[in-house]
Amino acid sequence: MAEKVVIVGSLNMDLVACAARIPVVGETITGHTYFDEPGGKGANQAYAVARLGGRAAMLGCVGSDDFGRRMRENLRQVGCEVNELKTIPDSTSGIALIFVADDGHNSIIIVPGANARLSPEDVEAAEGFLRGAALVLLQLENPLPTVVAAARVGRRVGARVILDPAPAPPQPLPDELLALVDILTPNETEAAILAGLKPSRLDAQQAGEIAAKLRARGARTVIVKLGDQGCLLVEDGRAQAFAAPKVQAVDTTAAGDVFNGGLAVALAEGADLAHACRFANACAALSVTRRGTQIATPTRAEVEVFAAEASGH
Ligand code: RIB
Repeated sequence: MAEKVVIVGSLNMDLVACAARIPVVGETITGHTYFDEPGGKGANQAYAVARLGGRAAMLGCVGSDDFGRRMRENLRQVGCEVNELKTIPDSTSGIALIFVADDGHNSIIIVPGANARLSPEDVEAAEGFLRGAALVLLQLENPLPTVVAAARVGRRVGARVILDPAPAPPQPLPDELLALVDILTPNETEAAILAGLKPSRLDAQQAGEIAAKLRARGARTVIVKLGDQGCLLVEDGRAQAFAAPKVQAVDTTAAGDVFNGGLAVALAEGADLAHACRFANACAALSVTRRGTQIATPTRAEVEVFAAEASGH
């Protein structure tokens, strides 16, 4: 049986408008599709772990509203343990306003709501819940001191700590946090920002140089997610690139979350990092062929068929 993955993170209700393109500042355009669905980077990763066949358990906060109830129920139904999801009586749930263009790209505004109320004390008090986890999966949609506390507790209980530094932080991440991280999984924009550079698309060489800098600041292993180029794994003096299967993307929202979920599932099953990167690439590639966030997450069986087809077997 796979070992437990604890996700400490955010839950947002995603309100999604799809249009030919994303409007520029001051512009109003007419879209063609609207839907809402449970999202949030933490919940998306928890959902992905469970849907891909892992043992997921989530620590986070929702508001006392219909969105909160719906998000809790959605995770429960996929098989994620939700006993440590707190309902904050005087707060709304987190929401995300998402614009998706027909070329698959998106832009997002988040209003954190209850996600801002997950405190370092909550995480410390949940040490028993984290104990026994093989992995603790973190993102940056909760307050930074809470993320640092979660990494510290994860370390203390002997779990591997994975940090997806998303969304890209407005200020540099403290070295104290990077030193608590076993695997850092930025996308190319986040990697550039963490290294103090302008956000941009990176080639494998640039990604490798940035990953080396982040490792020098404390992160043991860095996996740079390179979108349709796959990912670059950088550990102890060596870098290995893994190409992504070629697909027609319709919506890239949450592809990074599905990648992290797939990575965690593979590692919790005892796979090595190279195998986990290949599996995570396949999960993320399949997710971008569908609209939405959690509803776009493939099942384990779908990923296995897809990966076999992509490798020509
Ligand atoms: O990574 C995608 C997620 O970012 C969305 O589900 C949205 O809620 C934002 O948190």
